[in-house]
Amino acid sequence: MPTDDSSHAQPVNPNPRHIAIIMDGNGRWAQKRFMPRAMGHQAGVKTVRKIVEYCANQKIEVLSLFAFSSENWRRPETEVSLLMALFMATLQREINKLDRNNIRLRFIGDRSAFPEKLQQKMAEGEAQTEHNTALTLVIAANYGGHWDICQAFQKISQKIAAGELAQQDITETLINQHLSTADLPEPDLFIRTGGEQRVSNFMLWQLAYAEMYFTPALWPDFDQNTLAEAINSFKGRQRRFGHTGEQVLNKSNTP
Ligand code: IPE
Ligand code: IPE
Ligand code: MG
Repeated sequence: MPTDDSSHAQPVNPNPRHIAIIMDGNGRWAQKRFMPRAMGHQAGVKTVRKIVEYCANQKIEVLSLFAFSSENWRRPETEVSLLMALFMATLQREINKLDRNNIRLRFIGDRSAFPEKLQQKMAEGEAQTEHNTALTLVIAANYGGHWDICQAFQKISQKIAAGELAQQDITETLINQHLSTADLPEPDLFIRTGGEQRVSNFMLWQLAYAEMYFTPALWPDFDQNTLAEAINSFKGRQRRFGHTGEQVLNKSNTP
């Protein structure tokens, strides 16, 4: 069960604008059923479909899903190739559907490590859905928070070397503007399924003030109801951003 009971509290927050999810537990879901891990990943794709649809219906602005981390290359070769094939097949099948539903698809992560054909498909999916205005679906693939900060530093230092920026220009806002999520609001709600309570190198900078929600539900078992519980928990929490609780209450009482 979730470790807090704030879902029963009076809602104090509107819906989160940005939900970021670490989809964990596919392998264990399959192993519990004496099935190969691949079956768990396939079942996980079905959950992705349900959750994307639910978020679009709930008018969530951004849904970010951690699909493959920069550390997941350490898995056995067979599992890595299976994940690449599944990624490709899912994109081929889903891009038109996302487009019809006015969903904007985005990828974050170092895509240069992926097979050429997959990179092309990713670019195609982004281009085709670029002007859609409902949910923005961000897929983090070969993504790591360290990578993201590192690539931002590289871009900034290139601009400094070219004389476009000075050292004094380096501010939090400037760093934000060079992250892969530059144009997106920061995640308000972070969810991790599968029972582990760690960030595993996901959006390290961006999660600074996200509300955390951990659930033991394995990703293939996660559904609209479990997500609704997480959103309710979020709505019941007082976000203080460094202020005192009284300051926050007084602020919300003033028109
Ligand atoms: C998450 O499920 C999916 C990916 C990391 C690609 P896992 O494959 O990590 O599942 P568990 O943690 O082994 O159960
Ligand atoms: C995090 O899950 C990455 C994704 C869900 C894509 P992992 O299963 O790889 O995380 P660790 O290794 O257990 O921390
Ligand atoms: Mg895992």
